[in-house]
Amino acid sequence: MSLQDEFDAVRNEGLAAIAEAADLDALEHVRIAYMGRNGRLKDLGQAFKEAASEEKRTLGKALNETNNTIKDAFNARKEELSTQVDTESIDITEPRVPVRRGSIHPISQVAQEVEAVFTSMGFDIVDGPHIESEEFNFTRLNIPADHPARDAQDTFWLSNGSLLRTHTSSVQSRTYPSLADTIGEAPIRKVVVGKVFRYEEVDSTHDNTFSQVEGFMVDKNITVAHLVGTLKTMISAVLKRDDVEVRLRPSFFPFVEPGFEVDVRAPGAEGRFKNWVELLGCGMIHPEVLRKGGIDPDIYQGFAFGLGLERLTMIRHNINDIRLFNGADLRGLQQFGA
Ligand code: PHE
Repeated sequence: MSLQDEFDAVRNEGLAAIAEAADLDALEHVRIAYMGRNGRLKDLGQAFKEAASEEKRTLGKALNETNNTIKDAFNARKEELSTQVDTESIDITEPRVPVRRGSIHPISQVAQEVEAVFTSMGFDIVDGPHIESEEFNFTRLNIPADHPARDAQDTFWLSNGSLLRTHTSSVQSRTYPSLADTIGEAPIRKVVVGKVFRYEEVDSTHDNTFSQVEGFMVDKNITVAHLVGTLKTMISAVLKRDDVEVRLRPSFFPFVEPGFEVDVRAPGAEGRFKNWVELLGCGMIHPEVLRKGGIDPDIYQGFAFGLGLERLTMIRHNINDIRLFNGADLRGLQQFGA
């Protein structure tokens, strides 16, 4: 084979190999085989050096052409393969990794709504600690150490004598002393939303950790009518209905006198509110509780109520197991999430 024929053969094989290279890796192998230090173009250069001097003029030109043709083809193919990789890397049909979205806990939603209604009625939102003293949780609420009402609220005691508050009424007794100085600016209207804790066996309607809303108002000439009006306004707003009726039954809580259990119904409702549902405890703040808080009960009266948020939320959403709220099963919570 003449040298010219060899040039042609190497060029044709080289071009074919470049065209066949399916990716940049394969192309690199072709580069090494043809353009590398011991590649086939090097061999051609070596053969050219050994050629007769009279042939060198034409062969030199042919050699350059061969080199350039291979190099150009290589560069073109490299460019092609690089952009191909780019297009593949933004494959817009590829399913994306799903973004996990959180949702507001159903209890928090109802809590926010309740707070909004009370704020609109001029109530301030107040707060208190979960770890509470016996004094605020019981004693100042007319529940002395030997009182049987302490047994009705099975308590988590801490080793230092404090306890986990069993109801949000502790925030009432904690707040009165700070109000005593400014009582001249009455009415006092406060609402508390927060967690409470009881040493309960957990089942579908009881949990050891749940939430209450406590509201209380103190002013001159406060009556049960103010209490009923306030409760109706709140419950109508939370249930988003205007046919809400409330019914008071006498009941006993040491820190109110008289005390009531409140049932609620909405005759036009589809679900459980069609018939009376027991919803909360309330009453007129006991004069002794006001006195212990530094407020003169001969001048001022007030009402207070405490309501379980889980119960309200369960009825509203037709949830039949309280364990949904503190459980970790997001499938349940997300159904009611916002
Ligand atoms: N603290 C009471 C309870 O947890 C509810 C209540 C609050 C009753 C305020 C009357 C007045 O059962």
